[in-house]
Amino acid sequence: RPIAILISGRGSNMRALIDACAMPDFPARIALVLSNRPDAPGLEVARSAGLRTEVVDHRPFRGDRAAHERAIDAALRDAGAELVCLAGYMRLLTPFLTGAWAGRMLNIHPSLLPAFPGLHTHERALAAGVKLHGCTVHLVTEAMDEGPILGQAAVPVHAGDTPGQLAARVLEQEHVLYPAALRRHLTRDATAETEPTAGPLLFL
Ligand code: GRF
Repeated sequence: RPIAILISGRGSNMRALIDACAMPDFPARIALVLSNRPDAPGLEVARSAGLRTEVVDHRPFRGDRAAHERAIDAALRDAGAELVCLAGYMRLLTPFLTGAWAGRMLNIHPSLLPAFPGLHTHERALAAGVKLHGCTVHLVTEAMDEGPILGQAAVPVHAGDTPGQLAARVLEQEHVLYPAALRRHLTRDATAETEPTAGPLLFL
């Protein structure tokens, strides 16, 4: 199945999806990597993997979110994408794009939703004193970080953790969870096996 990945930055989750799609038995291939930022480091990663990339910069649209999203939607369709993975895509979406791709757009969020939607999740998890933190892959709906949950991976919070240390522990699991949740979503294979790295709990 042809999928598109939307990024705004580093693209480490995109890289995890690229690696998964390179496996012969993985049920997706990447038709397009699209960034709203021309300087997103992930674009270079995608290009060197030989993938089609496109930039739909939001700035020329001067706040006209609908027009920006129409341009994104056109690029997605032109590439033949059947499903979209948001991977560190840092623009809020309007009901136009979430509606057009309802049930076919996934996001990864660095917390155990519904805890800590929005930004600065690791700082907020530390401030709240939670003992368990993690990441969530969910379907994208109109309400930010609120769609149906497809999978979660949990990590412990250690005493004295800095936000950076906690973020790194979560990110390692994001890279395991996202391909696993995508595979499960595409195949709806209840027996799909995942291999979490040492320590975490991962549920699909
Ligand atoms: C990840 O933590 C992801 O959960 C969040 O933004 C970050 C993107 O990182 N949505 P990367 O660009 O995938 O490295």
